[in-house]
Amino acid sequence: MSDPREQSVTAAAAPLTIGVCGAGTMGAGIAQVCLQAGHEVLLYDVDEQARERGRHRVGEGLLRLVEKGRLEVEEHDRLLTSLRDAHSLEELAEESDLVIEAALEDLALKQTIFRALGASARPNALLATNTSALSVSDIAEASGMPDRVLGLHFFNPAPVMPLVEVVAGESTSAEAIEAATRFAEGLGKTPVVCRDAPGFIVNRVNRPFTLEALRMVEATEASIEAIDAAVTDAGYPMGPFALIDLVGVDVNLAVAEALWAASDGAVRFTPSPIQRSLVELGRLGRKTGEGFYRYHHGTPTGPAEGLAEAGVAEPAAASLGAEEIVSRIELGIINEAYHAAGEGVAEPSDIDRAMKLGANHPYGPFERAGQLGLREVIDGLTQLEALHGERYQIAPALWQIASI
Ligand code: 3HC
Repeated sequence: MSDPREQSVTAAAAPLTIGVCGAGTMGAGIAQVCLQAGHEVLLYDVDEQARERGRHRVGEGLLRLVEKGRLEVEEHDRLLTSLRDAHSLEELAEESDLVIEAALEDLALKQTIFRALGASARPNALLATNTSALSVSDIAEASGMPDRVLGLHFFNPAPVMPLVEVVAGESTSAEAIEAATRFAEGLGKTPVVCRDAPGFIVNRVNRPFTLEALRMVEATEASIEAIDAAVTDAGYPMGPFALIDLVGVDVNLAVAEALWAASDGAVRFTPSPIQRSLVELGRLGRKTGEGFYRYHHGTPTGPAEGLAEAGVAEPAAASLGAEEIVSRIELGIINEAYHAAGEGVAEPSDIDRAMKLGANHPYGPFERAGQLGLREVIDGLTQLEALHGERYQIAPALWQIASI
């Protein structure tokens, strides 16, 4: 057998032909990043208008770099000529060294896509899914070539966020993981390899960031604006509600639903009814112009109107203070990090790194636990459990460490 490193993606020498399947926010962002790294990109979307919008978004992203003086106009034009359209999944697979799928978060849909891609993929090509929280193994099985399928999970906005989670499915070969890791490095990103566990690292460990915030609003303990202000004042790049609007209310909900289902309905992952209502109302955040805030051309213009329709009530007079808001969110994240590490999702140092690079948090959860002291973390969680119930139950791995 020939050395797989001598072939296509595994050689990792630009330019490769990268197929991007799905031209939404993430697909367009990934396409832009690949173009900037010198690859040729084939863009496919089942909806041709969506593909045109995606192409436009890539153009806008590159133009932003020209305006900042980071890209010459000629280079911008040249990169855009390296962006080609694909008109079918077969064409995408036949012409690509690596296909990155960034379609909707729906397992049956992704399996249909991977069945088609697997049937036409080049002998040495890799197929990757940008799934947020679905099982890479389940998606890979449909392809008929699961040894060459893996997760390449980018973070929104893809051109800015440095992390890429490289996810090995049950059958993914070591060569495929190594090649994908080098590919991600070639994009200028920091790859972190993690297990095919629900939500991987960041989407799982950061779940309390948005879910805790939603629960405070549901319980009328604090307002959306007060929570976002408290969190940004504490050094986080954006508040939980601004973040939900950025990634999409529906996308964030899909992650919560997937984690909840995969954990057999663990109380701490219970999805928020407010979020479900907003999705039913079609208020999906920045991309639809309204979510928790209103947007004009992507810029927030103030709080959204009519949130009462989605179940948001005015906070009670005795609202939580900024310190309590931040503490609850941070304790939830620390506890989840111990759950994840205890289940072997990744090493604590990789979890810290992933949270700093994939969510731009000022510190990783284990670093934060060290700053606070384990005694304070345990006491805080114990008090919260007494007040609010089992969602604050201390992770077994945290108990273990604390009892040493
Ligand atoms: N597309 C491209 N570039 C963008 C952008 C976008 N949508 N938004 C901001 N930028 C660029 C700006 O141009 C600027 O670039 P520069 O430094 O080179 O000039 C840089 O990002 C910083 O932007 P701003 O100064 O306007 O704003 P901020 O300093 O507030 O940064 C942010 C914006 C990077 C989005 C920051 O708020 C942040 O890190 N937020 C957290 C984002 C996060 O957690 N992402 C992960 C979400 S989870 C996910 O995606 C997984 C999925 O499976 C759900």
